[in-house]
Amino acid sequence: MRILLYSGKGGVGKTSVAAATGVRLSELGYKTLVMSVDPAHSLGDSFDLDSTLFHGATADAKPVRDKLWIQEVNIQREIKRHWNEIASYITAVLRTTGLSDVEAEEMAIFPGMEELSAMMYVNQYIREKQFDVIVLDCAPTAESLRFVSLPTTLDWYMKHLFKLERRVMKAVRPVMNAMGPIEAPPDSYFGNIQSLFEKIQGIDKVLEDPQISSIRLVTNAEKMVLRETQRAFVYFCLHGLTVDQVIVNRVLPDEITDHFFDGWRTTQRGILGEMESYFAPVPVSRVPLFNHEVLGYAGLKELSDRLYAAGEDPAQVTRTEKPYTFSASEGRYEVRLRMPFVSKAEIGLFKKADELVVEVGTLRRHVGLPTSMAAMVPAKARLEHDILVVEMRSAT
Ligand SMILES: Nc1ncnc2c1ncn2[C@@H]1O[C@H](COP(=O)(O)OP(=O)(O)OP(=O)(O)O)[C@@H](O)[C@H]1O
Ligand SMILES: [Mg+2]
Repeated sequence: MRILLYSGKGGVGKTSVAAATGVRLSELGYKTLVMSVDPAHSLGDSFDLDSTLFHGATADAKPVRDKLWIQEVNIQREIKRHWNEIASYITAVLRTTGLSDVEAEEMAIFPGMEELSAMMYVNQYIREKQFDVIVLDCAPTAESLRFVSLPTTLDWYMKHLFKLERRVMKAVRPVMNAMGPIEAPPDSYFGNIQSLFEKIQGIDKVLEDPQISSIRLVTNAEKMVLRETQRAFVYFCLHGLTVDQVIVNRVLPDEITDHFFDGWRTTQRGILGEMESYFAPVPVSRVPLFNHEVLGYAGLKELSDRLYAAGEDPAQVTRTEKPYTFSASEGRYEVRLRMPFVSKAEIGLFKKADELVVEVGTLRRHVGLPTSMAAMVPAKARLEHDILVVEMRSAT
């Protein structure tokens, strides 16, 4: 079983590349699902399917070809399925702020819900061994980062706050209800969160296993897009995920000789050169700009033939390097984290319970420490090329 997650800045071609990859995989004989995690779905459009048929009430996987299914998570349906209790609590709270019912219901779809629903499906498909490969077409970078960090965040919440909150709520609910206007959540709200949590349990291990999951970054040969791709690369590393391919889409083909594009061509050449050195040893693949939209099965097949060599298998595991490792030698304990493109000044480090917390910008990663290091604190840190080496010492 493989999970291939396509992420990148808005509009770079994620959906097209994910769908084209699905086409190639199904042609190689893999039972393939391309699943859209992006709330603004365009997967059906990419396959040029009739949207009135496709955006129907059902959110389950739909066959498009032999061995190829696509799925767009329909959030309204998901609410009915998993979120009713939680959403109605949030709606009730929002209503007390003077919002209309419709507004309150809309607002109750809090960010992260699509991602969470998609993750439940992925987990279910893995457990039931329904597909050989799941290709995830993600929303632009920020949301896909939220997608991959969700299990860690939830896990942390369940471990540290959930039990406490539930106990506290039991005690204060009568008081809170008497005081109004905001009602305390009913205990079933917590029961629901618990069962939701169980549904995604284990998915973090799946995403962190390079034998199962690969992250592929789609980008364009433009400076601003490249910067975002670099940041995404860092953040995925920070979350313990393996990026095994960078795909540069819409590269100007050589046959365009019109001088109008001279400036663009110079820019693209420069950026493409930079990219190779930034992402090495992760391979950078190129897809040319076509003289037409990438649409329907034929268009997607054309893209897949330009992206992959004849017979090339996108499901192959090509990189298995762990983004972080622990070592102990001669009494020196070290944690090594792969952190390309960051400077030491951007990194924050501290210890919390038995976790090492690494911060880059606003993103945070909790690295669970092995027992031998659990009582230690970070003493020194240095950057060795793109590896952050944190030396740990006894707290006393
Ligand atoms: N190599 C290409 N040549 C020409 N057109 C392309 C190419 N790749 C993608 N397109 C077109 O660009 C548009 C945007 O592509 P796509 O929807 O795949 O991007 P996206 O990254 O998924 O966007 P979003 O962030 O909105 O989800 C589509 O109309 C698609 O047909
Ligand atoms: Mg898209």
